[in-house]
Amino acid sequence: MIDRPTILLVAPTHYDVSYSINPWMDPSRWASDPRGMHGSALRAFDQLRAALEGAGFALEIASGEPGLPDMVFPANAAVVLDGRAMLARFRYPQRQGEEVPFARVFEGLRARGVLDHVSVLPEGCYQEGAGDCIWDAARGHFWAGFGPRSSREAAGVMARYFGKEVVALELATAQSYHLDVCFCPLAGGEILYYPPALAETSLRELRARVPAHLRIEADADDLRHFSVNAVNLHDQVVMTRTTPHLRTALGERGYRLREVDLTPFMLSGGGAYCMTLRLDRRSADVAPMAMPSVATAAA
Ligand code: ARG
Repeated sequence: MIDRPTILLVAPTHYDVSYSINPWMDPSRWASDPRGMHGSALRAFDQLRAALEGAGFALEIASGEPGLPDMVFPANAAVVLDGRAMLARFRYPQRQGEEVPFARVFEGLRARGVLDHVSVLPEGCYQEGAGDCIWDAARGHFWAGFGPRSSREAAGVMARYFGKEVVALELATAQSYHLDVCFCPLAGGEILYYPPALAETSLRELRARVPAHLRIEADADDLRHFSVNAVNLHDQVVMTRTTPHLRTALGERGYRLREVDLTPFMLSGGGAYCMTLRLDRRSADVAPMAMPSVATAAA
């Protein structure tokens, strides 16, 4: 497996918004100017790529497939940790066709030694990759979303495959159909999250595990900007063009934001994190409380 922070992206060649499987998706807006939209998607992708490289990531760029526009969101393709990948099983027929081409991509990564092992979920268990199973490097466990897309029992499958604790959180709204829309663990141990997206018992579980000074509450405007859907490496945060609220909240804690206009992808219900998949994470790299603000708080 690989050493440096590495992200998988999928080129947006075949990207469009032609169906709707979440409340943010707007095929009619796309259809009003498909060529213009596609052009902006290509430009936005290039900006995302530059921002990720600027933040310190190496990139692997796979190609998509005609007729499978949402392949551009590889966060949903698999869960990856310690050189092991569990391939996703998609809830909706519109995305199920991605399973075969993504399996080829991961097999290719394995053949090249980027990954050591690739596995598949049991029949009947839905799980939409790192969008619904997010590694918390400061705590050394996964947080798994379930409800709209992934099955409740997927959390147990992940725990067994990776040999790590998986804390399941129930998603209570259609808007936050994947956990990554409303929940983002940061390097310093903070959790950026949108409270109304979680069911009451899951909210209690989260608050029991994460002390108040490490909880950053996003508001409806932050959610609408897809800014909770962020990619973090040390103090670097790559995200959509964000709100004054989050600029301040994250800036005060020492994070440096790299904002990218991802409007064409937000029309499909995605932000920066959805468009990426980390391939290099190791569970041994638990780096608790790496940020200066947290070191102070813990002292
Ligand atoms: N249109 C895609 C879907 O509804 C967007 C996926 C965004 N990915 C994510 N990890 N939230 O499945």
